[in-house]
Amino acid sequence: MARKFLVGGNWKMNGSKQLVDTLVKALNEGKWSPNVECVIAPPAPYLAAVRAAVRKEVGVAAQNCWTEGKGAFTGEISTEMLKDLNIDWVILGHSERRSIYKESDELVGKKVAAAVKADLKVIACCGESEGERDAGKTTEVVFRQIKAIADQLSAADWANIVIAYEPVWAIGTGKVATPQQAQEAHKEIRGWLAKNVSKDVADATRILYGGSVSAKSAPDLQKEEDIDGFLVGGASLKDKEFLEILNCRQ
Ligand code: G3P
Repeated sequence: MARKFLVGGNWKMNGSKQLVDTLVKALNEGKWSPNVECVIAPPAPYLAAVRAAVRKEVGVAAQNCWTEGKGAFTGEISTEMLKDLNIDWVILGHSERRSIYKESDELVGKKVAAAVKADLKVIACCGESEGERDAGKTTEVVFRQIKAIADQLSAADWANIVIAYEPVWAIGTGKVATPQQAQEAHKEIRGWLAKNVSKDVADATRILYGGSVSAKSAPDLQKEEDIDGFLVGGASLKDKEFLEILNCRQ
């Protein structure tokens, strides 16, 4: 099954007009294989400016959204507003949303369903903590997180879903998962999809790896059969390194 390689750049809460100019310029002038899809996720205040400035082939994602299209939800980001701004993607269920902002599996599932209903494409995140991995609970945790999403979706909805496996112990730590660790988790996720959704969905759904991806680690990670791309944090803020990661796959 040919799945188009996707490199996502999650800027997290990092942004300024200067950084937007630098990263947008690098992407507008940069070159990478047409076989590699690029999606960048600036902080919400910069979404419109980035969408207007970056080349159209680059997808632009919000880092979060609410479960409704409009209404009395002070401070939240509406799915309808994202579409209004020609923002086609949204990252949901990031481990920082789950740990810092206490987003439950159920809320993440509802957000994913609302985003798909608004015809947004979703990078849906999952991943275990160090303690959960050490306790041998990686698949138990990841399957639980994915089930909460799958319970809200029809089989057709999965056409809008990309999964990002982001082991919490690798996020922002420099402790990147080995290709074998990442491949093992991705294969388990794909197996869960085949068993619980459908073989077609399992074969078609892209599974990204995230967690301290760098220009150094990307080349070996991308060789793995079930790694269909990356969700890059810190390195996506470095224009030259992010372009190197985009070029790890030809
Ligand atoms: O969403 C991607 C992010 O969680 C990974 O961050 O800095 O470890 O690449 P980083």
